Amino acid sequence: MSDLTVQPSRGLKGELTPPGDKSISHRAVIFSSLAEGDTVINGFLAGEDTMNTARAMQALGIAIDGLGSSRLTVRGKGLDGLSEPDGVLDLGNSGTGMRLLAGLLAGQDFYSVLTGDQYLRKRPMARIVEPLRRMGARIDGRSGGRLAPLAIRGGGKKTSAIDFTSPVASAQVKSAVLLAGLYAEGTTTVNEPSPSRDHTERLFRFFGVGVEQHGTRVTLRGRQQLRSHGPIDVPADISSAAFFMVAACIVPGSDLLIKNVGVNPTRTGVIDVLRSMGADIVLENPREQAGEPVADIRVRHRKLRAVRVAGETIPRAIDEIPVLSVAAAYAEGTTIIQDASELRVKESDRIATMASELKKLGIAVVERADGMEITGRETTDGAVCESHGDHRIAMSMAVAGLAARGETVVHDTAWIETSFPGFEMLLRQTAYSS
Ligand code: S3P
Repeated sequence: MSDLTVQPSRGLKGELTPPGDKSISHRAVIFSSLAEGDTVINGFLAGEDTMNTARAMQALGIAIDGLGSSRLTVRGKGLDGLSEPDGVLDLGNSGTGMRLLAGLLAGQDFYSVLTGDQYLRKRPMARIVEPLRRMGARIDGRSGGRLAPLAIRGGGKKTSAIDFTSPVASAQVKSAVLLAGLYAEGTTTVNEPSPSRDHTERLFRFFGVGVEQHGTRVTLRGRQQLRSHGPIDVPADISSAAFFMVAACIVPGSDLLIKNVGVNPTRTGVIDVLRSMGADIVLENPREQAGEPVADIRVRHRKLRAVRVAGETIPRAIDEIPVLSVAAAYAEGTTIIQDASELRVKESDRIATMASELKKLGIAVVERADGMEITGRETTDGAVCESHGDHRIAMSMAVAGLAARGETVVHDTAWIETSFPGFEMLLRQTAYSS
């Protein structure tokens, strides 16, 4: 098992480009497979999660060149070009991979089985299984289909369109239903309680598929063909950039430029929250890539103060709450995080795991059913921490260690590979350059 040891930093300096966006990379490789002809994907995240999705597409009969690098060529076979896999599709640790593929496979006319690692096999699947069954797929799984492995016999030509209201704001659920809806005759609609990330909608449009969005209601007409429109340039992942944003906010002396970051408004909750805490964050050189807004982000250290994070901000910052709770740990006052019970069903129970790890640093944390209250301190002594098998907990605690007075050790950090290969190297380059 790998450990990561972090010494106090005297300021993060220079510039870095984090790896490609995980959400967009999953979608880019799936959608390119469904298009007629070749699509080049630049900036593909060569992390475990997205490589598992790419391998699953290969097992479904799609040729992909360059796997393992950040430049893929996907040889798409059109809407009906997938074929029955001859083995189980293993999505490893990735909830996005499993849920998006379940949607795609629900529309095929063959049989397939999806599984994942010990953590993914504990995560809730009823949220996708229930609508996908309504659309005509036969799905079985452990616990009546609530847990993976999931065995799917797709509806094929009999897939039916639905008007679905999701109880959770989840881009994974929305995308699963839309992918199945692509195979249905008629129009599929998904309604959400508040807006989740819209990369699926944007990438559908990039491939020439009409998708309508009215507030929290998304509509897609089935049987539309995807057409390749040149390369997909995947921006750097704001969820990975967030670790460096928070690090630069909390370590005195920092002045950091994080380049080529996706700043889709459904993902920028982390910037809004940090700014409301008083952070000095400037977006430079705004531009667009493959239908997604992109910018360079300059962050300079400034003392943070506590805030309340709740409501519609939560889905816009869902993966950044662990590292935002590190920002809160070094902010003045008590930060309140509410309406975030979804955190309990991520790669780990992120309310429980962040509370337990921050307490090891001597931070006062009160755990609530849907969030936590964190009272910040000027600094901490560092601690020996655990990843709980969760990449974002591992990276959050490494960031917390940079602003401590003493050494911090994070155990079991190999999980970082799922989303952020090269994290440790970039951390060392920027945090100890002076
Ligand atoms: C993702 C959606 C989010 C997020 C996950 C990636 C996606 O999950 O936490 O890391 O790419 O669709 P939910 O949609 O279930 O909230």
